[in-house]
Amino acid sequence: MKVLIAPSILSADFCRLAEEVVAVQEAGADLLHLDIMDGHFVPNITFGPAVVGAIKSVATVPLDVHLMIENPEKFIDDFASVGADILTVHVEACNHLHRIIHKIKDMGIKAAVSLNPSTPVESIQYMADDVDMVLVMSVNPGFSGQKFIPQALRKIASVRELVGSKKDIQVDGGITRENASRVTGAGANILVAGSSVFSASDYAEAIKALRG
Ligand code: DX5
Ligand code: ZN
Repeated sequence: MKVLIAPSILSADFCRLAEEVVAVQEAGADLLHLDIMDGHFVPNITFGPAVVGAIKSVATVPLDVHLMIENPEKFIDDFASVGADILTVHVEACNHLHRIIHKIKDMGIKAAVSLNPSTPVESIQYMADDVDMVLVMSVNPGFSGQKFIPQALRKIASVRELVGSKKDIQVDGGITRENASRVTGAGANILVAGSSVFSASDYAEAIKALRG
């Protein structure tokens, strides 16, 4: 599978958000990864639908919206209406994962489920056919710039076994040019990268290095 790179806007310069979005797109970003945090599910707060809508107005690639929020079912309509192309919910935040995944798909949006580092793959065992993508967290969600948790590699391999060869597996957290090939080698095909792209002086070179 082709390796896709999804720069995480969380590490961008928020004072120059539009410029930063255009710059990563010109540098070869395949998706824009947008981290939505509510201060409850994770110990940080970021931005909501208004900012996603503003980013949409300058986006030329799909918006990959990662919901790190409690009660995500309450906000699906809001993020759909401002132009999310992929909506990812956390299995740990959903009482009725099957219902919410199908609600997202019924709106014509790709639906994904994410697993925190301590969450077993078995938690999505009966959802493999329903989701379009699985997001394996390789850090505890909440902040950019954290260190990759190596156990994620085994988890990626078992998610690949579960979902088969055609579905997308995304990995998020601590991805660097040093570990990217191990992550794709384990079976992932979409790499989220915050600090490793936005702290680079040359975004295009950074994205190319991650693609391998
Ligand atoms: C972490 C977020 C990530 C974060 C990744 O909770 O979900 O998307 O922005 O940042 P890096 O690549 O710096 O770990
Ligand atoms: Zn994320």
